[in-house]
Amino acid sequence: MRLRLLSVPLVALLSSTYLSAKAPYSADDDARARGLLAKMTLEEKIGQLSQIMPKELPDEASAKLVSAGQVGSLLNVVEPDQIRYWQELATKKTRLGIPLIVGRDVIHGFRTILPIPLGQAASWNPALVGEGAAVAAQEARSVGVHWTFAPMIDVTREPRWGRVAESFGEDAFLTSTFGVASIQGYQGDDLSSSKRVAACAKHFAGYGATEAGREYNTTWIPDQLLWEMHLPSFKAAVDAGAATFMAAFNDLNGVPASGNAFLLHDVLRERWGFGGFVVSDWDSVKQLASHGIAADDREAAFLSARAGVDMEMSSTCFAEHLGGLVAANKIREEEINAKVLAILRIKFALGLFENPSPPPGTTYPPQQSMEALATAKRISEESFVLLKNEKAVLPIDPATRRIALIGPLAHQPYEQLGTWVVDGRHEDSVTPRASFEALAKEAGAKVTFAKGLAYSRDRSEEGFAEAIAAAKASDVVIFVGGEESILSGEARTRTNLVLPGAQERLIQVLAETGKPIVLVVMAGRPLVLENVLPRVDALVYAWHPGTMAGPALADVLTGVANPSGKLPISFPRSVGQIPIYYNQRNTGRPKEMKDYKPIDEIPVGQKQSSLGFTSYFLDESNEPRFAFGEGLSYTRFKYGSVRVDKREAAVGQPIEVSTELTNTGDRAGAEVVQLYLRDLAGSITRPLRELKGFQKIALAPGQTKTVKFTLTPELLSFPGPDGVPRLEAGQFEVFVGGSSKTDNQAKFQLMPPSGTP
Ligand code: NOJ
Repeated sequence: MRLRLLSVPLVALLSSTYLSAKAPYSADDDARARGLLAKMTLEEKIGQLSQIMPKELPDEASAKLVSAGQVGSLLNVVEPDQIRYWQELATKKTRLGIPLIVGRDVIHGFRTILPIPLGQAASWNPALVGEGAAVAAQEARSVGVHWTFAPMIDVTREPRWGRVAESFGEDAFLTSTFGVASIQGYQGDDLSSSKRVAACAKHFAGYGATEAGREYNTTWIPDQLLWEMHLPSFKAAVDAGAATFMAAFNDLNGVPASGNAFLLHDVLRERWGFGGFVVSDWDSVKQLASHGIAADDREAAFLSARAGVDMEMSSTCFAEHLGGLVAANKIREEEINAKVLAILRIKFALGLFENPSPPPGTTYPPQQSMEALATAKRISEESFVLLKNEKAVLPIDPATRRIALIGPLAHQPYEQLGTWVVDGRHEDSVTPRASFEALAKEAGAKVTFAKGLAYSRDRSEEGFAEAIAAAKASDVVIFVGGEESILSGEARTRTNLVLPGAQERLIQVLAETGKPIVLVVMAGRPLVLENVLPRVDALVYAWHPGTMAGPALADVLTGVANPSGKLPISFPRSVGQIPIYYNQRNTGRPKEMKDYKPIDEIPVGQKQSSLGFTSYFLDESNEPRFAFGEGLSYTRFKYGSVRVDKREAAVGQPIEVSTELTNTGDRAGAEVVQLYLRDLAGSITRPLRELKGFQKIALAPGQTKTVKFTLTPELLSFPGPDGVPRLEAGQFEVFVGGSSKTDNQAKFQLMPPSGTP
């Protein structure tokens, strides 16, 4: 039975979540911005809506624009002296002296490179990820950068897509949590602080659904999925006070995001009350014509400005056409005013009118602090996911074992940094080789390094003999492979997700030596590891771990640190399973094993019949190789049964859920306790499981802790296709365990108020 209900107080409760946006500026910033706006000419206003990337100095064309007040923002200028040069033009040569806001892609660190965002999400430690964002903000702001184009909070089920590396994975709840933590880390409580930058929630919206994972491809997202999966992280970003949003490149349901009034106006401004400003993506205003929704640049400017883009990145449609569009009464000056006001408020909030430039003598790159490196190392350590550990090959005691360190990524200072590393320096990187050799020296042990392959795509077997010899002379092989950084990130889609080059073959020949093999994968996406998994004894998924990859890996592999990462995305067994994700719907005919006949067992000449037709692949399992939330530890955790404080509760009441977690092993460790909900029958079908809470719990050996969650009415509700939350009576199952596969559950029922049928 399904009972749907929205009682009056509940409507109030849920709709209050609609208007909880935190303004990213103060009343004083607003007043100052309004005062300044009142003095501006239309031309000066339109100038604020342009973002350009100047060339190396001298760049006379850009200097002319900036001096004429025709530019509001710069991107990709990071040298303090150059920033000062441009700010002097803006503040001293123009009539009103409005400073520029300087933006940069500070995606996972500035000078100190943290793990790629997908790796950060694998830490399931939002507080730590917030600390990492704060480190990046401090380094960036110190040279004069005010604004990062991060975090990317596109939810995606696409390991083929190169930008999965920049995402926090496949789940809306997880992405929202990490998005908020990052925004808080970048922005802090005071944007004018010399240690903070404005954040940019991107790419709004639906970019993660790009068809076949092919970059910049069209997206078709039904309303239900848009509200369930793609929009929650952006709503959370507004509520957290994100100063800016970036409109996405993709065509969403026939209307490209950078000209999509439903997204940018109706949802972002009207429904959510966003108070910051929206920047386009690179040329995405002009590209409205390539999409085929605008006839030319003028129409592109019209559609984009009308829809809600406030600042145009790179292309110049606004600069060239907004004046004419106002003169032709196509766009009202009040609409331009709203955009300028939104931008000026953030400039005031950032304190740019007081401090437009870094002090003279500031150097680029910024100094690295010990704290920054320590934070980077901790995030790397916590991002590693132990996915296999047979015969307890890990942790390795370096004092008692001869180690062969092999593989194309064991000593590649640049490749371990991953995608979007514009200000990181490979000279800062500490590689696994450097760390293991240092460790061996200390322990009086032996590490033999042989790369085997020169780079990840290398097909030459020239280095195999040396690698085999190193393996033979060792007690254990650590193979560090995966993808070079250039194989993931923007415009880096792959259709084949196996280890590139001759890596599979090299692992095979190393396995033939009979030595235990620990496979460490550095990659920007989930890879398909079917061909190598049976040949290795342990697997550590390390993503691209950043500057401190080496020390973090050495500590985790030798047991100084205990792995605690969990997967933020499902790992397919084959590309044919994609999209594969944990929060799927049941279907009307879920797979039943009794009916299942794999392709090779179907008798030749089998007659057609509709018996046993359930939802399965003939030639592949329905299950991922590794599930969302999965990850092992060197210790063991035991879960008590799941308790709910009420088996029956009135709709609108919270449910308290708890369990006991015990470390039953002999090492200290941390476990990510995950809570999943299933609403058994809804007015709209619900996923088999949905993540609704998680906590990372550290336990000493033998220690037990009670872990508690509260399922609030917000968490118990789900959006309809109109985005309005529905809280419905009925049966629920709540699962608490160490991965999305857990069967540890309890049931409860939400009861309709008496008198409701
Ligand atoms: C294009 C990318 O899509 C976006 O994420 C990035 O911030 C801009 N380029 C600026 O580099």
